[in-house]
Amino acid sequence: MRVFRNAGIYERGVLEGLKKGEKLNIIIVGTGYVGLTTGMALAYLGHRVVCVDKDTAIVDKLERGISTIYEPGLDELLSENAGSATFTQDMLEQLPGADIVIIAVGTPSKSNGDTDLSYVEAVAGEIGRALDPESPPVIVNKSTVPIGTARRVETVIREELDKRGVHCSFSVASNPEFLREGAALHDTFYPDRIVIGTEDVNALNLLRQMYAPVLEQTFTPPQAVPRPEGYRLPAFVSTSPTSAELIKYTANAFLAMKISFINEIASISDKVGADIVEVARGIGLDKRIGPWFLNAGPGWGGSCFPKDVRSILFTGSQYNCDMDLVRAALEVNRKQRRKVIEKLQQNLKVIRGSTVGVFGLAFKPNTDDIRESPSIDIIRELLDMGARVKAYDPVAQDKYRESYPEQNVVYCDSAEEAARESDAVLILTDWDEFRHLPWEEFGETMKSKIMIDSRNMLNVDELTGYGFTYSGIGR
Ligand SMILES: NC(=O)c1ccc[n+]([C@@H]2O[C@H](COP(=O)([O-])OP(=O)(O)OC[C@H]3O[C@@H](n4cnc5c(N)ncnc54)[C@H](O)[C@@H]3O)[C@@H](O)[C@H]2O)c1
Repeated sequence: MRVFRNAGIYERGVLEGLKKGEKLNIIIVGTGYVGLTTGMALAYLGHRVVCVDKDTAIVDKLERGISTIYEPGLDELLSENAGSATFTQDMLEQLPGADIVIIAVGTPSKSNGDTDLSYVEAVAGEIGRALDPESPPVIVNKSTVPIGTARRVETVIREELDKRGVHCSFSVASNPEFLREGAALHDTFYPDRIVIGTEDVNALNLLRQMYAPVLEQTFTPPQAVPRPEGYRLPAFVSTSPTSAELIKYTANAFLAMKISFINEIASISDKVGADIVEVARGIGLDKRIGPWFLNAGPGWGGSCFPKDVRSILFTGSQYNCDMDLVRAALEVNRKQRRKVIEKLQQNLKVIRGSTVGVFGLAFKPNTDDIRESPSIDIIRELLDMGARVKAYDPVAQDKYRESYPEQNVVYCDSAEEAARESDAVLILTDWDEFRHLPWEEFGETMKSKIMIDSRNMLNVDELTGYGFTYSGIGR
């Protein structure tokens, strides 16, 4: 058996024994942002895909061709795939005949920063109870999981097999996911790299086969997800399971640190009268730094960075590694929410009794995901301070209202309504539509023309030209 240890990058055609073009039977367990996107992409590429979720409402909707999340291109792919992807609550009856089972369930934080693996382990247990020892599938951890989890999943499966008195060999591979919500399908069809962590060459080959159309870009791009011009073939990175697990946390910790870094520089930029957008551009043109993740703002949120940063810190603590840089990134991020409130205080002076029009609730544009969105902390603090909050988000409003019923927010049907009779507008999510709003007209309907643009997305000269007092972050 050839064992690929340590990181090795295999370009197209290097691996042998691939059954080109063969359709695989793939089960994806967990049909959330990652599972649904992955499932739809793999079905589009020609595989037979079954998406499993324990949530009846999700399965019901998907069976009717209705997307359960907002993600550009997903609706189109759901209808294109009708027939080639199926949805069910029951994994057990799907297991016989499956080539690959991909685990894509949630891995939330525990209160101590550790990762809650109960969903992953529950799936592993189910697999162990039903796995066919004559033709076991390759099990794949796509969920973001701490080091050792591939082995842990194997142990849980084996314990169940032992209870059945069954002995067989099977593989658990790690295949971390790097997609960005809001561009999830794009990133799945056109990734920078695909990382597979396994010691088993057969598992590696099978996963190479599953991803072959992506690695070789042999598919006709879906209309809704065109291939970007100049896109180069992605790298196929074969590592040990432990390295693959660490790669995912390292990537997220690094990106979170990059944002916290520019937010820290934004604070000094504010004090000295520089413009952080100019500073970021000036450093981002350096190839060693790159222009991405250098947008100062209200701090990072979402379903990944906060929990993954806490998780790598927890792992560090278990190994007596202080991880001072990562810890500082978390601390800078915590303080950054407050900076946005301070901008309002500087401009409004008194927050109690004022009305703030909040533009954007999602943690970033093009998604309805509000998990750990900066808007949650900022709105809570504004309400605690006695402000009236009118909010508008093009897609995340219903999720926000359902998730935070205790927040007494006035939800608006349009941006115009959120601005009307507000003392200040506070932009929290950089939805593209906010760039093109008739701010001059909106200003006429506001009580005072104060704009806190926490995403630095608007043109300062234009806004000040309309009579707004404009504050960004670091400019
Ligand atoms: N969302 C992202 O942008 C992103 C990116 C990269 C990696 N990840 C990682 O991928 C994993 C999934 O993230 P997500 O955002 O898709 O989560 P999610 O919460 O959107 O979806 C998880 C789904 O799993 C289902 N589920 C839980 N237990 C189940 C079980 N036993 N059987 C069947 N279904 C079950 C839930 O009902 C839910 O629909 C996490 O580990 C996350 O860290 C997420």
